[in-house]
Amino acid sequence: MKNRSASTILVTGANGQLGSELRLLAPSSDMEFIFTDIGELDLTDTGAVHDFFNSHKIDFCINCAAYTAVDKAEDDKEMAEAINVGTVRNLARACSLHGSTLVHISTDFVFDGKAWVPYTEEDLPNPVSVYGQTKLYGEQAALGENPQTIIIRTSWLYSTFGNNFVKTMLRLGKERNKLSVISDQIGTPTYAADLALAIMHIINELPEKENHEKRGIFHYSDEGVASWYDFAKAIFDIESIEIDLKPIDTADYPTPAKRPHYSVMNKSKIKNTFGLAIPYWRDSLKKCLKLMG
Ligand SMILES: NC(=O)c1ccc[n+]([C@@H]2O[C@H](COP(=O)([O-])OP(=O)(O)OC[C@H]3O[C@@H](n4cnc5c(N)ncnc54)[C@H](OP(=O)(O)O)[C@@H]3O)[C@@H](O)[C@H]2O)c1
Repeated sequence: MKNRSASTILVTGANGQLGSELRLLAPSSDMEFIFTDIGELDLTDTGAVHDFFNSHKIDFCINCAAYTAVDKAEDDKEMAEAINVGTVRNLARACSLHGSTLVHISTDFVFDGKAWVPYTEEDLPNPVSVYGQTKLYGEQAALGENPQTIIIRTSWLYSTFGNNFVKTMLRLGKERNKLSVISDQIGTPTYAADLALAIMHIINELPEKENHEKRGIFHYSDEGVASWYDFAKAIFDIESIEIDLKPIDTADYPTPAKRPHYSVMNKSKIKNTFGLAIPYWRDSLKKCLKLMG
């Protein structure tokens, strides 16, 4: 582990799920943190971003900001693009100019879901939604501006913070006695707290000098595989919620945005490069549910 005690980390989009989990880790780190969300630093404001980097010495920027409303993005392409592409370009450019390392978060939704083994970083993306497309363009913008960027693709995030599938299931579990959940979309639920820890681990493991092996795209989710139905079943089982839960097909639950049928990611690269141990999704789900009370 390097001595990072004099380093400053800027966390953007800090009021979201991942940003909030990073806030919890800050007190136990010896690095300085600056947390901003749209109120303090609107990343669509190119001038404000450059002013910010001019007036602060930023060693690492963890970009948690994004347009994450997958269905809404289908009719709101301009805004999704402005945030998922434009702001990423702004940040990557500022990081490049000021010698800061950008850690940017992307998604399993860059894939079309036609695979039948977990996606590696070498597999060709082919998004099936506006959200996925804008996130892919964001990756390309970041790497185009600054090849030293670290991009972490993750999937199915949930947390005690923000709105997510776990909270929706807990609410529906109280309101209803039967529920249908999609069983033909397969991926991996990821506790945002695990991802936050992984990011801090990676920053600690980065060499002082640029090292191409430790830059570029990495896949991170919790371990294991589930359908949304499996995920819901686990939530209800762990919480001992009695509900008549039925698996349904995507075709029976149409949504504005298409989603990949299979988006499990291979995590060998991130584990081998950074010596990272990743928890099993169900174990992490239990921890999160316990915190939710
Ligand atoms: N959620 C998932 O299931 C999932 C899955 C795979 C990958 N990811 C990726 O993981 C990352 C973190 O996701 P998350 O779930 O933590 O996101 P989130 O909870 O939606 O948080 C995103 C934050 O970014 C802020 N933001 C939006 N526009 C901004 C701007 N112009 N300037 C500054 N901040 C801005 C949002 O503010 P407002 O709320 O005010 O808009 C929000 O606080 C994102 O890159 C996302 O694409 C998420």
